[in-house]
Amino acid sequence: MSSSPAAEAARRRTFAIISHPDAGKTTLTENLLLAGGAIRAAGAVRARGENRRTRSDWMKIERERGISVSASVMTFDHQGLMFNLLDTPGHEDFSEDTYRTLTAADAAVMVLDAAKGIEPQTLKLFEVCRLRDIPIVTFINKMDREAQDPFALLDEIASKLALDPAPLYWPAGSGNRFRGMLDLRRDRFIPFARKGHGGPGNEDGHPQSIPFKGNAVVSYLEPDEQEELAENAELMAQASKPFDPQAFLEGHMTPVFFGSALRHFGVDELLEGIGAYAPPPKTVAATRGGEAIHVAPGDREVSGFVFKVQANMDPNHRDRIAFLRLTSGEFERGMKLKVQNTGKQLSVNAPIMFFASDRELAEEAYAGDVIGIPNHGVLRVGDSLSETGTLRFAGLPNFAPEILQRVRVKDPLKAKHLTKALQGLAEEGVTQLFRPTMGADFIVGAVGPLQFEVMADRLANEYQLEVIFEQSPFGEARWISGDRADLEDFQSKHRSAMGVDIDDQPVYLAKSAWDINYAMERYPKVRFERAKERA
Ligand code: G4P
Repeated sequence: MSSSPAAEAARRRTFAIISHPDAGKTTLTENLLLAGGAIRAAGAVRARGENRRTRSDWMKIERERGISVSASVMTFDHQGLMFNLLDTPGHEDFSEDTYRTLTAADAAVMVLDAAKGIEPQTLKLFEVCRLRDIPIVTFINKMDREAQDPFALLDEIASKLALDPAPLYWPAGSGNRFRGMLDLRRDRFIPFARKGHGGPGNEDGHPQSIPFKGNAVVSYLEPDEQEELAENAELMAQASKPFDPQAFLEGHMTPVFFGSALRHFGVDELLEGIGAYAPPPKTVAATRGGEAIHVAPGDREVSGFVFKVQANMDPNHRDRIAFLRLTSGEFERGMKLKVQNTGKQLSVNAPIMFFASDRELAEEAYAGDVIGIPNHGVLRVGDSLSETGTLRFAGLPNFAPEILQRVRVKDPLKAKHLTKALQGLAEEGVTQLFRPTMGADFIVGAVGPLQFEVMADRLANEYQLEVIFEQSPFGEARWISGDRADLEDFQSKHRSAMGVDIDDQPVYLAKSAWDINYAMERYPKVRFERAKERA
């Protein structure tokens, strides 16, 4: 017998990792799973990925380029807590997908490369977290390599992110002189064992922590190193604010951890910190019948929203898996849920939970959990699901694409086919699709050029369509809204620059950002939006 939905939700920690490519997200993911007991050997995350890819080779690009483009979820139960780790794609072209995944996370771990500090992609992702009030835990990785001065790294966090860094540990050296770290809350020293070979978690683990003031520390630190560490810790305590969990939850402060994901050092401490400080699922704003309400994790009615759809995981079946982040209630397998905007009812007979070792059928799930629902295109990104079908959560943003291209199919007889395929990919959120009011060609939009490659690859493999991308006459897209009369006035004067998205929402397709600014000045009552929250 499980406990109440509120108690179950309270032991959930649903989080994502954000980082610039190469900072160590994959390595950290793997080592967190190891620390949580979800996998036994290092290398499993990648190996499992490889298997999946060979079975469903729709992502040849992913393999060829060695990048991870498909987000997934991994769940593990550790020390009485249920962790849901949302894996976000690392490549910058897929940032839109990452943004959406972050809407399903209650906290984020920001991984910094200790030698590089805050990189452009870290900053971009951080901004999304801030927009959504997601508290951030910082992990300064690669301490086993020559690192920047930790004080400089903290300064950078404070100045670039306007976030108070509060270190919970302090490193002793870096690179070849990395000795370990001081646990500032417990005044214990955690020695770092330099490994010869072999992966983390095997027999050459790190020694147990020891009292910093005790005699045993001399086995790991030279007297001058010990003195320097004590001085730095002292200096740090004077220079920074002490860790305040409330300020962290409000997004003003970040607890800082140091370590080496590759050497499995500092990872157990990080996981413990996430368990102790990261928030359980929150009460969220929603509407019912147009009226604003709040949905609490312990509410009876089961509800959630779809933040990602992944198609053709198995190429033999045109199945799609919608990832549903639960927001309330006790979900049980076989339950019927209704989609708010279409009113369609769905019997969720084969929900999937993504345990790191394997996929499993979910018998029950609670707020904070993510379940995969196989379906045939009924579910779309941004859909709100609930037992009554009347709950609606604020939608997930679609970002204005930065590149627009015209797409045509080589064989004109397959034009109809193309429409369906493009629609499917847009519903999944692979690319955005716009239909200009004038002209027959579709315009696809993406945040980065690699998205077009993924799209062409998938159209060829899954739909047997060879497509050509051509330069589009448009350079920018903005969703427009406002009073009917104002909108009609604007639309009538810009017919050749109007289009609709897959939800038939009007979009202004402009030649350049300059045109948009001009239009904004001339039509102050019309709103031109870069992001659209899906209805
Ligand atoms: P990403 O997902 O953020 O892109 O980074 P990933 O984990 O793939 O790590 C990028 C590179 O950094 C990898 O090396 C990885 O082994 C290395 N790395 C990650 N964490 C640490 C760490 O704590 N210390 C050190 N020294 N290196 C680390 P690679 O050579 O690019 O790949 P691989 O051949 O090791 O797989």
